[in-house]
Amino acid sequence: MFGLGHKKKNTAIQLDPNNIPIHIAIIMDGNGRWAKKRGLPRTAGHAAGADNLVKIARHAYDLGVKCLTVYAFSTENWKRPQDEVTNLMNLCMKRLPQIVDLMEHRKVAVRFLGDRSPLPEPLVQMIEEEEKRTEPYAKTGCYLNIALNYGGRDEIIHAISRISQKVKAGELAASDITEETVSAHLYTAHCPDPDLVLRPSGEIRISNFLLWQSAYSEFYYDHILWPDFSPKHLEEAILTYQGRSRRFGGVTPQK
Ligand code: FPP
Repeated sequence: MFGLGHKKKNTAIQLDPNNIPIHIAIIMDGNGRWAKKRGLPRTAGHAAGADNLVKIARHAYDLGVKCLTVYAFSTENWKRPQDEVTNLMNLCMKRLPQIVDLMEHRKVAVRFLGDRSPLPEPLVQMIEEEEKRTEPYAKTGCYLNIALNYGGRDEIIHAISRISQKVKAGELAASDITEETVSAHLYTAHCPDPDLVLRPSGEIRISNFLLWQSAYSEFYYDHILWPDFSPKHLEEAILTYQGRSRRFGGVTPQK
């Protein structure tokens, strides 16, 4: 049902090119376990996870996906040991230019989702520059969203606060607040809601990721640890998605 029990066949995967998810969101989980299995420090797992992000992003856009949102650091990840947090921030500084180069080449706009205020100043400067560098590609409608110090609840609070300020300033009537108003004040306002949310590594939970946006997303879980999640695994996830009947609370139309 979730994808975990999906029987993997060793044959070429035929995807319906007319039913590729427009927006895929990924919880890049399992880096620590991947490293532990190899007797390596957790930091090596995160570095392998960053390498895999490049590989999967490339394949996703090749398949026709328009928006990819990846969970790189949550509002809860500050609870990790200080050296792991520092390593993750340094890893972002080190790998972002390479990731953004690839996106520039693919004409994909890069956006960062989350509260930037507690991030190290050089990282904030870098993400602002990288967003600016790829902004011209926003017109293609292709995005890589990197969730960094992101939390779904924090995002909703942030949206409520911005909407309240507009109501207070008389720019918006409280009675005019709709679902669209809320969506337009989220960090993901530039993308449609995710069609498919993937979580490798065997954990089956949402962990404060895209809480509002995933109301009608299809979920896919896999035991594979993120650094081992290959383009073939991505295709298997999309194949499972293509077999789902999305009703958005309605009923399946009669044939
Ligand atoms: C969760 O797995 C993973 C993270 C908190 C970090 C994810 C970050 C990356 C893959 C690097 C991204 C890099 C850039 C440049 C955007 P975990 O390590 O908690 O896994 P575990 O449950 O096996 O310990």
